[in-house]
Amino acid sequence: FATLDTLAPKGKRILVRVDLNVPMKDGQVSDQTRIERIVPTIRELAEKGGRVILLSHFDRPKGKVVPDMSLKPIATALATALGRPVSFAHDCIGDEAEAATRTLRDGEVLLLENTRFQPGEEKNDPNLAAALARLGDVYVNDAFSAAHRAHASTAGVAEHLPSFGGRLMEAELAALYAALENPERPVGAIVGGAKISTKLELLENMLAKVNMLAIGGAMANTFLAAQGVNVGKSLKEEEMLDTARKIIAEAKARGCDLVLPVDVVVTEEFMAGAPTRTVPVSEIPDGWMALDVGPQSVQMLNAKLAGLKTLVWNGPLGVFELPPFDEGTNAVAQEAARLTKAGALKTVAGGGDTVAALRHAGVLHDMTYVSTAGGAFLEWLEGKILPGLTAISTTLEKTLPV
Ligand code: 3PG
Repeated sequence: FATLDTLAPKGKRILVRVDLNVPMKDGQVSDQTRIERIVPTIRELAEKGGRVILLSHFDRPKGKVVPDMSLKPIATALATALGRPVSFAHDCIGDEAEAATRTLRDGEVLLLENTRFQPGEEKNDPNLAAALARLGDVYVNDAFSAAHRAHASTAGVAEHLPSFGGRLMEAELAALYAALENPERPVGAIVGGAKISTKLELLENMLAKVNMLAIGGAMANTFLAAQGVNVGKSLKEEEMLDTARKIIAEAKARGCDLVLPVDVVVTEEFMAGAPTRTVPVSEIPDGWMALDVGPQSVQMLNAKLAGLKTLVWNGPLGVFELPPFDEGTNAVAQEAARLTKAGALKTVAGGGDTVAALRHAGVLHDMTYVSTAGGAFLEWLEGKILPGLTAISTTLEKTLPV
């Protein structure tokens, strides 16, 4: 796609799709990460005299106006982060939005109301896409984290206007490309999470791309059970045992080192303060469940990290929200951070709980790159083509960073 290097913003109405789907608590933004990461694009366009019109969804109002899902409180947080005023229109199309975009002056920033208040947004309704396009002269997509959605504001609108990728979009793609498409090898991945069934395509795609694939979280129990290990009452997917065996065989055939825990921290009750034991995976007692990887596994994983040049991290290794079952994730994340800071490893992390787990481990800012994307990061790891990227690219090759 074309980057902002090829756009002359002055005097233009620039429709910028951002992702302001940020965590809120008591009506306030509780995590600024996504806001901070779109500041460079907005600031660059405004400083060069562009008239910046921001489009975003928030939450899932399903085509209805849900007052609690208004973007208005986020306009205030954004203004603070930008250090310049952000005006607000109560709809993303219609008279008010049109008037607001017409009176906008060079360097000013306007945020339009939640695009998902419009029933046409998620259906990628061509009428909505055309109505949005009338508000701008050009379109910039800076929402990699929403690029897996083929919606009017992420895909349809790009058919009507000259389209560009923003600075965050560029950074996300450059990081993902460097980690998976053209990585410095050996490249490894840590994939955690509860279910193989939700990560099947991801695991299959990763097997083909990485030299080492470490499995953590409850998913690991299913792999262990598939090898005949008694995992007690640990969470596992009975119906995925065959699939797990196929993945193990495929890893072997491809020469990918598939790494499973060798010891685990177990408990009888899923609650804070319940007694725990650390046991080899072959000795999980009946009635006990594994909630974290044990110290031997940590040592083994950390030794594997030392042999890598690139690491992709998606998902925690244990129930990090419930100490002491955060210790495995913390220890491996801290080693990845240490190697990354020392320049020995490039670590790209993202998707789902990953950001929370790395923040909990105190190493969120020590990674080479942390994606702002959840679902879109996973779909990229699955090898899927993201409609939001296709929409701003004339050819697939142009989705690669320039
Ligand atoms: C996200 O938070 O991952 C994106 O904003 C996409 O949100 P969605 O899953 O509601 O489409």
